Amino acid sequence: MRDTVRFLLDGQTVELTDIDPTTTVLGLLRYDLRRTGTKEGCAEGDCGACTVALGELDGDGVRWRAVNACILFAPMLDGKALKTVESLGGQHPVQTAMVEHHASQCGFCTPGFVMSLWVRGREAAPPPVNDSLAGNLCRCTGYGPIVAAANAASAPAEDETALVAALKDLAASAPLALRHGPLHWVAPRTVQEVAEYLKLGGEDSDVTLVAGATDVGLWVTKQHRTLPTLLWLGAVPELQIISETDAGLTLGAAVRYSDALPALTRLHPELGELLRRLGSVQVRNSGTVGGNIGNGSPIGDMPPALIALGAGITLRSVGGTRTLPLEDYFIAYGQQDRRPDEFIETITVPRPAPDRTLRLFKLSKRFDQDISAVCAAFSLGIENGIVTDARIAFGGMAATPRRAAACEVALIGHPRTEQTVEAAAAALGEDFQPIDDMRASAAYRLAAARNLLRKVFEGSDGVLSLEPVNA
Ligand code: FAD
Ligand code: FES
Ligand code: FES
Repeated sequence: MRDTVRFLLDGQTVELTDIDPTTTVLGLLRYDLRRTGTKEGCAEGDCGACTVALGELDGDGVRWRAVNACILFAPMLDGKALKTVESLGGQHPVQTAMVEHHASQCGFCTPGFVMSLWVRGREAAPPPVNDSLAGNLCRCTGYGPIVAAANAASAPAEDETALVAALKDLAASAPLALRHGPLHWVAPRTVQEVAEYLKLGGEDSDVTLVAGATDVGLWVTKQHRTLPTLLWLGAVPELQIISETDAGLTLGAAVRYSDALPALTRLHPELGELLRRLGSVQVRNSGTVGGNIGNGSPIGDMPPALIALGAGITLRSVGGTRTLPLEDYFIAYGQQDRRPDEFIETITVPRPAPDRTLRLFKLSKRFDQDISAVCAAFSLGIENGIVTDARIAFGGMAATPRRAAACEVALIGHPRTEQTVEAAAAALGEDFQPIDDMRASAAYRLAAARNLLRKVFEGSDGVLSLEPVNA
């Protein structure tokens, strides 16, 4: 075991000993390393002012990701390469383009935009500029010049041979286990070690599992919670495996959204579009599907879609594994079917039949980077004008992500007529008594859920029809 975090900052090794494991990378940069170019705007992953570039070995190259330093714990840098706005030296083509297009208006958000654009320039197939920058907020609304700078910026190739060698060197290090007073960080390398560690904690375990920290990070920065032991899943290669077969897709629980995106899109394009609306590039570069399930939130975006598709999860403990349908994992608000000695190991999503209709909807106040008011997933089988099967799940409608059982009953075995759809829409009132909160009123949520159901069944000409999405 090793008690020193080691990472590369501009190619130079930085070692951190006796560090509080809940120190954020932003805090480390600003207060310890005095790299004050990286700014704090929100400290909750929303504004992108703290964007830095995190590099990791990818075969014989380096894969760079834009991440939010404000909710990344310092030990998550272990074995990685880090670049900040200072790394670019002031004359980089991205910075020159920002100056030439008058895109640095307040200056405060600028380092974050610059780093997002620097990473974008390293991508083989960069997404549209607006997608790349959705996680960087400009409060003075001067996006026009920033987008113009993004379109103009060039991305000169950089020789990373030495960096690759240094990263390989770091990869050979022993697993990390830090202690700082009563605080502890462990980063096992195998699922068996994770299970053994959880077993050690026993029933009253103070161990918090952490994957991407896009939820857990906020427990520290916003709720100021003390987390005595953090068990990081990001160093376990088995939890990063994506396996695609004719039957479907299996994702290791620590697969990050940005890595899951291509495989989920291949499984069904609607899944890709849903994921594109989840958080921002920075959030998707850290956050995981396992974390979205593990937090048990009623408004997580993945569970409704995965439940409608009939996904299952596998939980591991020292005693072995058990598999259950995802919908059974969510018992009540804040309560999941997971013992303290277990963790989610994989998520398996069956491939939808080609004639199955799958429609996914996310309703939120903003298009990008916003939590759902209502998330809806419809997976329907129709034969000869009769609804033969329906799996319908909602987020934001109850204390957990849940299937709409009465609505499904009202559809199955019935012709796809307006009468059937209206009966099913009425049945949603039996399924859900949504809450009122700042995102939406109960009345809005129920009305929206009913209208989404109608939308699935309505063809463009307004006549009831149901086109298979895959057709
Ligand atoms: P972490 O924060 O590491 O962990 C989350 C929880 O899951 C913790 O309770 C942890 O103990 C538990 N956990 C993690 N892995 C496991 C495991 N293998 N087994 C058991 N438990 C586990 N979410 C959305 O759904 N839609 C959005 O649009 C969205 N936007 C966001 C925007 C911002 C700015 C931020 C900061 C967050 C957003 N989120 C959103 C929430 C968050 O990104 C997701 O819930 C994400 O999937 C969490 O994954 P993570 O790996 O970061 O989890
Ligand atoms: Fe706003 Fe980090 S400070 S995203
Ligand atoms: Fe910084 Fe607009 S340029 S908020």
